[in-house]
Amino acid sequence: MRKKATVIGAGNVGATAAMRLAEKELADVVLIDVLEGVPAGKALDLTEAAPVEKHDAKIIGATGDYSEAKDSDIIIITAGIPRKPGMSRDDLLSTNVGIMGSVTKEVAAVAPNATLIIVSNPLDAMCHVAYEASGFPKNRVIGMAGVLDSARFRAFIAMELDVSVENTHAFVLGGHGDTMVPLPRYSTVAGIPITELISKERIDALVERTRTGGAEIVGLLKTGSAYYAPASAAVEMAEAILKDKKKILPCAVCLNGEYGINDLFIGVPVKLGENGVEEIIEIELTDSEKKALQHSADAVRQLVEDMKRLG
Ligand code: LAC
Repeated sequence: MRKKATVIGAGNVGATAAMRLAEKELADVVLIDVLEGVPAGKALDLTEAAPVEKHDAKIIGATGDYSEAKDSDIIIITAGIPRKPGMSRDDLLSTNVGIMGSVTKEVAAVAPNATLIIVSNPLDAMCHVAYEASGFPKNRVIGMAGVLDSARFRAFIAMELDVSVENTHAFVLGGHGDTMVPLPRYSTVAGIPITELISKERIDALVERTRTGGAEIVGLLKTGSAYYAPASAAVEMAEAILKDKKKILPCAVCLNGEYGINDLFIGVPVKLGENGVEEIIEIELTDSEKKALQHSADAVRQLVEDMKRLG
């Protein structure tokens, strides 16, 4: 039977994710937005590209009609406003919290067995909103951040060493913000830790570029934030779940004491399969890595508390 994926938000991230889902024939795709005509228009445009791109995924668009999401296997939520130059992801909190809460309630009601992939910012806080609004178990609410941040780190490592991106692996943990924790010791090229291939000074520069990678793109685009890489990252997670790949990826999940952190969504390595988060993997961290992760968790917890105060 065909799988079904719903993408909420037909903006740049949502439409690009819909395109990649369809082109990889991972699922039939429903694109939902509040805007009149836009989701239907983009869905029709993607449908008309299908003969050339050689896929048979069905793509439909709907305006505010969540019944179209019925029985979806995967729901990717991109709804909300993106940042403009000078804004941090956290500045989006008060606007996006309401949007995330209401769209999650709508889709959770019609697709109670779906796995949610949250993309809207501020990411870790939005995962909390989606978790509470959906009432879904923790293994079926997953935030997309670590795959994106790690992909950025991998791209910079490949550029630095002039090697194939396919040779690179990287792990970026923590919150999806300025406190994120790229882990050079666990980042490799053809299995060799980058700490043996790149000077400490250059690694520090790549780590800093990774941390500010989202802002670098906002600064260039001026009218919004990145979307090609965020969409690719969300679809890699969707693929791991839809195909039950048991793939280990860094994702924002709700921790239950792992890494000494409780009841907080934050990025750590997890195994993704048909049951969503099938395992939270605890890797050995040095004291300074542990401290950096704790610092990042403190920043996320502060944001979640600010959000609760906003009501
Ligand atoms: C970024 C946004 C999407 O990192 O959070 O580009």
